Amino acid sequence: MQRPTLKEIDGFEATGQELVARGWVRTKRDQKTTVFLELNDGSRLGNLQCVFDNPEGIVAATLARVQTGAAVTVNGNLVPSPKPGQRVELKGSALELIGEAPADEYPLQKKNTSFEFLREKAHLRPRTNTFGAVARVRNAMARAVHGFFQDRGFYWVHTPIITASDAEGAGAMFQVTTLDLDRIAKSGGKIDYSKDFFGKPSFLTVSGQLNVETYAQALGSVYTFGPTFRAENSNTTRHLSEFWMIEPEVAWNDIHDNMDLAEAFVRHLVKAALEGCAEDLAFFDERIQKGLVEYLAGIAAKPFERMTYTEAVARLEKNSGDFEFKPYWGCDLQSEHEKWLTEQVVGGPLIVTDYPRDIKAFYMKQNDDGKTVAAMDVLVPRFGEIIGGSEREWRLPLLERRIIEMGLKPETYSWYLDLRRFGSTPHAGFGLGFERLILFVTGMQNIRDVIPFPRAPKLADF
Ligand code: 4AD
Ligand code: MG
Repeated sequence: MQRPTLKEIDGFEATGQELVARGWVRTKRDQKTTVFLELNDGSRLGNLQCVFDNPEGIVAATLARVQTGAAVTVNGNLVPSPKPGQRVELKGSALELIGEAPADEYPLQKKNTSFEFLREKAHLRPRTNTFGAVARVRNAMARAVHGFFQDRGFYWVHTPIITASDAEGAGAMFQVTTLDLDRIAKSGGKIDYSKDFFGKPSFLTVSGQLNVETYAQALGSVYTFGPTFRAENSNTTRHLSEFWMIEPEVAWNDIHDNMDLAEAFVRHLVKAALEGCAEDLAFFDERIQKGLVEYLAGIAAKPFERMTYTEAVARLEKNSGDFEFKPYWGCDLQSEHEKWLTEQVVGGPLIVTDYPRDIKAFYMKQNDDGKTVAAMDVLVPRFGEIIGGSEREWRLPLLERRIIEMGLKPETYSWYLDLRRFGSTPHAGFGLGFERLILFVTGMQNIRDVIPFPRAPKLADF
């Protein structure tokens, strides 16, 4: 017996053929002598309607026990559906209740659908329309990420998750240890890291960039795609403690090539979502953010605006009354500033370049003005930064000086500095936050709703 998914069934010519459908019951409705089951198996957003006319005997008895959330198999005949908006339906002849979901215990009932509530039921929320759609879009975006780079001759490099170097030099790292901290604390002794698993302090990576740069200086065009970790105490709708990042790095590229690549990448991903996730995006458009599909089509069609940081701050200063945090040259752009620039000034994505060097990481190429670095952030309406990147400082003396000026230890970066000692070339790259991309293409509001099991301060359930 063939076992088609509900997505496959939806594509079948309905000629009354017999088949078996499997899935979870979304709703059960009784209408006079007919019982309707809406079945979903996650292969698509839409349900398969299973219709039981005048059920009797064992079928009627089983239907009586079927409730929202139950797993069932339905035998029936596939026929064209008279109901608008669905091509086919299954005229049920038999069914089996595989896994019950008692209504007084199953948490996903019509009245309990707030995203806050569902965050506490993260193990069940993929069975809802919204979280199923998010999961499918996430998958399609991951595939499109690889498609974009693989079609352009980039190599995917698997950078480590455990590391001893701080890639951003910002110190927001989770420590990894096998030392018995309780025992050391009780004995009042000092921690001896030579006895730790790696023989020195080690951490979860904040970025694969430094490691992937080594491969860019050997294979040319490379990228990472993996989880990264930040121990920042940021309780916002845009920050996670564990998030996925894509970091391309290209030998010989300058900041302009880098911007072109970032823009082509984002537009490619948006196009891939429009083409590959039409049913899910239509749902987000209707339920989450009105006008989403048209908005995304506009993003895919138009070049992004570009502006230097200095110009952006000048614009912000002219309207400083609009902001809680007063903008000035040298300040880090706040998300209210980024929102204003994208929403009010350019009405779309914006690439801001040449930031003050004192607010950016040590590895960015220093500009000739002595004040700025060849950095670029891609900002989007609604939540601001989606990509951060730069041309890299590839000149050894300047990089060494910057590491020392920023109070970092050159010894811990000796292997990274070797790249500048031997066969150094100009190169550039950036990082796209995968969950921020998913917020962007789905219109979802909270980053905790676009990753299956979010990690954030005081939140590591499941
Ligand atoms: O701007 P960031 O910190 O840049 C880097 O990590 C560089 N090493 C990237 C590179 O040049 N290869 O982070 C890059 C992106 C941000 O623009 C944002 O989209 C995302 O990663 N991001 C976060 N996403 C969710 N939660 C957080 N706490 C994030 N921090 C950064
Ligand atoms: Mg950044």
